[in-house]
Amino acid sequence: MQLHPITGAIGAEITGIDLKQPISADLAEALRQALDSHLLLVIRDQFLDVPQHRALAQVFGRPAVNPYGPGPDEHPEMTSVIKEASERTGVFGGGWHTDLSFIETPPNGSVLAAIEVPPYGGDTLWANQRAAWEALPETLKELLDGRDAVHVGKPYGIKWAPPVEEQAMKGSTKRGDPEADKERFHPAVLTHPVTGARSLYVNPTYTMRLDGMNEEDSRPILKLLFEQSTLPEFCCRLRWTAGAMAIWDNYSTQHYAINDYHGFRREMRRTTFQSRPISEWRGLAAKTHLTAA
Ligand code: SIN
Repeated sequence: MQLHPITGAIGAEITGIDLKQPISADLAEALRQALDSHLLLVIRDQFLDVPQHRALAQVFGRPAVNPYGPGPDEHPEMTSVIKEASERTGVFGGGWHTDLSFIETPPNGSVLAAIEVPPYGGDTLWANQRAAWEALPETLKELLDGRDAVHVGKPYGIKWAPPVEEQAMKGSTKRGDPEADKERFHPAVLTHPVTGARSLYVNPTYTMRLDGMNEEDSRPILKLLFEQSTLPEFCCRLRWTAGAMAIWDNYSTQHYAINDYHGFRREMRRTTFQSRPISEWRGLAAKTHLTAA
């Protein structure tokens, strides 16, 4: 297995492996280590079927069902991400976000397969949220450390949902769910329970406000954080090819699917995985803060 970094900040392409073959314990360990170092892994020319896709996800955790985009009954944990050539508005994931940060147990990572890709466009961007946290000024770090951010599933709820004609994957995702309007509290900075690595965990799609502040007071701080967290220096951009697999750490990255391929069809298949629940990522500072409160 060879690793080829994509940028200085995030991502590595892997060559020299065939994921259609059973994944040995050694390879699984090497993949987990590579993900922890690079936060995004890309392996091209794999053309995995559903069981092989699931086996790859199982290297990192337990495949999880997306409650707002379940797959078919035979494999509900496999969400189909499709934009037809005739569709113009909206694309699934077309804004900076971390997957499902508005649910109680957001997934630790995702595994995305490129089934059909447009001749150009349809790239995906990722941004390294460990680097984003590191680069914040100390005053902002102090403000965020030990504080929760409040997330809401705006596109899937009732209160904030965009008009139907602007919604992506209209028929295939669950919409109008009052559960998605509920506020979910997660640490604004996550701390890896074993390594102690820290990452900023706010995103413009789902984060509404900071705990202890209203939306209006939170807005300028969040605006600054959203700008800082997606600076080009923290990003990479993936040009997809059919058969490629991308695996990312959903607690240490944000991503953005670019909607620039009108007139062409794009089909992806995504599963997420659960390994360490977010409740274990509060870290010492947060625990001290909560105890003090
Ligand atoms: C997503 O997981 O947000 C979709 C990414 C993509 O389709 O490139």
